Amino acid sequence: MLPKGADRERILELLEEEGGLRPGVVTKVHQQTGVPEADIYGVATFYHLLDPEGGVRVCQGLSCKLAGCDQVKADLDARGKKASYVACLGRCDFAPAAWDPEGDPTTPETAFSPSDPSFAIDLLGADAPRYDALEIARERGSDWVVGELETSGLQGRGGAGFPTHFKWNAVRGQAERERYIALNADEGEPGTFKDREVILRRPHLVLEGLAIAAEVLAVNDIYIYIRGEFGQVRAALERALSAAQARGDLGDHPRWHFVDGHGAYICGEETALIEALEGKRGMPRLRPPYPVEKGFRDKPTLVQNVETIACVPAIVRQGGAWFRDAGRTQPGSKLYCVSGHVARPGVYEAPLGVSLRDLLDLAGGVVGTLKAFSPGGASSGFLPADQIDLPLDFKSLADAGSMLGSAGLVVLNDTADMVEAALIQAVFFEDESCGQCAPCRIGTQMLRQALERYRAGETDALAHVSNIAWGMGEASICGLGQAAWMPLSSAMKYFPDEFEPTD
Ligand SMILES: Cc1cc2nc3c(=O)[nH]c(=O)nc-3n(C[C@H](O)[C@H](O)[C@H](O)COP(=O)(O)O)c2cc1C
Ligand code: SF4
Repeated sequence: MLPKGADRERILELLEEEGGLRPGVVTKVHQQTGVPEADIYGVATFYHLLDPEGGVRVCQGLSCKLAGCDQVKADLDARGKKASYVACLGRCDFAPAAWDPEGDPTTPETAFSPSDPSFAIDLLGADAPRYDALEIARERGSDWVVGELETSGLQGRGGAGFPTHFKWNAVRGQAERERYIALNADEGEPGTFKDREVILRRPHLVLEGLAIAAEVLAVNDIYIYIRGEFGQVRAALERALSAAQARGDLGDHPRWHFVDGHGAYICGEETALIEALEGKRGMPRLRPPYPVEKGFRDKPTLVQNVETIACVPAIVRQGGAWFRDAGRTQPGSKLYCVSGHVARPGVYEAPLGVSLRDLLDLAGGVVGTLKAFSPGGASSGFLPADQIDLPLDFKSLADAGSMLGSAGLVVLNDTADMVEAALIQAVFFEDESCGQCAPCRIGTQMLRQALERYRAGETDALAHVSNIAWGMGEASICGLGQAAWMPLSSAMKYFPDEFEPTD
């Protein structure tokens, strides 16, 4: 229980304003908020962007490792520049990526699929701020909008693929009138950088989708939680919002709040995101209750991914059936991020259910010979080259023992060492586990240690991997621990030669 008058929700913002965890800052923030100092210290140490000693952040995600991030770090060290590794920078298309918080915040332009107005996002289309879908939603009413969402078959693009209309109905159905929307723009899954481009290139689509959701769910406050390294992205959205408000496109409500992430992958998980909004360590909550019943401030909350919300205006304007028919094996068009050993890493919109072969055509082909790919972020594990024609949709990938996740595809050619690739992902999950539950905290550590021992020549080091994986899958609180074993287990399954005892 906090002391009366304590203002916990401001502590992360205040810590950031003070330049992170510097001497004297905790006391100062305590005096401004009333939150106990030990509590503030506990929060501050959870977020790596609040470490003032971090210097240049060098990404050690899979694509950046493949592209030689260790050399980048070594060069910075040799120049005497302060630098530290981070799990992911959301710039796999510019691998090996490094980010200097003091330097130029801009991201160079990535590669895209050609403009195609028959797709919901159409990244290269003009971001014409029409807001006519918002007008249509107001005229036709909430039941009609949710009905079109249901017809569209839109599933969440943040990773879990949950039907969007279901969540909107669940929030609408709550008796509680104080409700919130939280836009999940934390985009931290290695291999994924699509939400960055949606906001940079189509900010009005995002704003219009959010305004429609606020109208349908009778929400007065929208929180935009945006990853801390995306300063330029946040600025693009703020500019678009100011322009739309100045033109009167959005009306007087809802109120818009921007909140920066502070460098913790787990805060992309929706309940951890809510904890961060409330000024706490980003530790996922036990469910139920789900955020649609008790989310931000314990009130009904719709947490929605950027791409999902950006699909809404097109569905309202052109109808649910139009969106559904744009898919190949499942409804809708989808943004796929392609990086690793490909000629043109980038963001490619395509019918949901295209294959890696189709995406490679868009991305200029494999550099070298295809060996493996990770279809949907670190949590999706690895698939072998002979799965090149598998439809990349929610169902087909789940049937194959993988997942579409955030559709961050990383392509590996035959120079890749699968033990090394599994180790890169194991290090990621160990670093980013919030440590709250034992199966994940200890399991991620055991998997990383087992791989290191195996590499050091201990031939039976991987003997217990399936037991550890079972425990993590069954008993972890959130999706991180439930899937963190997938890279190693799938690498062992599909590339047994590389994991055979060597003595
Ligand atoms: C470990 C973990 C990390 C996640 N990271 C993100 C993220 O960066 N962005 C995102 O939109 N969803 C992320 N999710 C999924 C969210 O929990 C949630 O399902 C999503 O934001 C809901 O929006 P959607 O229905 O539009 O997909 C993550 C889930 C887990 C388990
Ligand atoms: S599974 Fe891992 S990340 Fe999720 S709550 Fe448990 S310790 Fe935290």
